[in-house]
Amino acid sequence: MNQNGHIWFDDLERPIQAHGGMILESQGRYYWYGENKDASNFGHNQRQVPFVGISCYSSSDLKVWHYEGLVLNENSDLEGRINRTSVVERPKVVFNRQTQMFVMWCHFDDAAYHFAGCCVAIADCPTGPFKVVDILRPNGKESRDMTLFQNEKKAYLIHSSDMNKTIYFSELTEDYLNTTGFMTKAFVDQEREAPTIFQHDDWFFMITSGCTGWHPNPALFSRSHFLLSGQKLIDNPCQGVGRKTTYDGQPTYVLEVDQHSYLMLDHWHPDDLRSSGYSILPIETNGRDLRIPWVEIPFGGQVN
Ligand code: DGJ
Repeated sequence: MNQNGHIWFDDLERPIQAHGGMILESQGRYYWYGENKDASNFGHNQRQVPFVGISCYSSSDLKVWHYEGLVLNENSDLEGRINRTSVVERPKVVFNRQTQMFVMWCHFDDAAYHFAGCCVAIADCPTGPFKVVDILRPNGKESRDMTLFQNEKKAYLIHSSDMNKTIYFSELTEDYLNTTGFMTKAFVDQEREAPTIFQHDDWFFMITSGCTGWHPNPALFSRSHFLLSGQKLIDNPCQGVGRKTTYDGQPTYVLEVDQHSYLMLDHWHPDDLRSSGYSILPIETNGRDLRIPWVEIPFGGQVN
């Protein structure tokens, strides 16, 4: 059984490669997208892996995961802008009801993280293959760590920008393939990254990390009654001994299942990124406050 804080295994007992990921529900099945980092670290500081691709795993119960393959790789961009030295991180996928397409946004960068943009790709089914439709900087702004948020009306890219000093909410076009030009700021000059967001009752909560590379730091939650303004950093939702390092993890997504919210974490191993672990932790909401206690087994299983 998969345990929080460790590498997880798929139905064939192979290590799951889906870092910086997210889980999408579509027609009763769950799809976990993430970075496949199954390569040896390289680079001048040995803190990177060559680009392998974006993996997809599927599951009916969020416990047993079946590998569906690389849904995006070097060959997914007909213009040849993606290669082994590219950085493609934190894929997030939403379904566009109007176009009936699955739309993926990822952080796209060069090996030195100077480009600071996004890769946008589409597929007509959740298991892809995704085809790159654009590589861009949203509204001309930098975009590093990012997530997507979708409601009945619109979808937004939420991204660390301005040298990671400030987070932007950038409204997406109706087809979700670009930004409209409308954007708002959160946490100005607060240096937050790894953005996650969810709505509970009349609050929009975010859980973000500080900016310390691959090294863990205390997560903070924030809240606002409004999606596009007013986020105020409140407190660290983690509990106990692991609190100061977010249980040695970093947020990547808030998954909502049966009206419960769960925080997905990456546990980065900077010297051997492919062995980085995962956690999915239940979020306890109490009015306007959050707690995220540590649990060993995701979704309430028992330790063997
Ligand atoms: C922290 C980010 O959250 C990760 O996604 C990755 O970009 C690393 N920084 C790179 O140092």
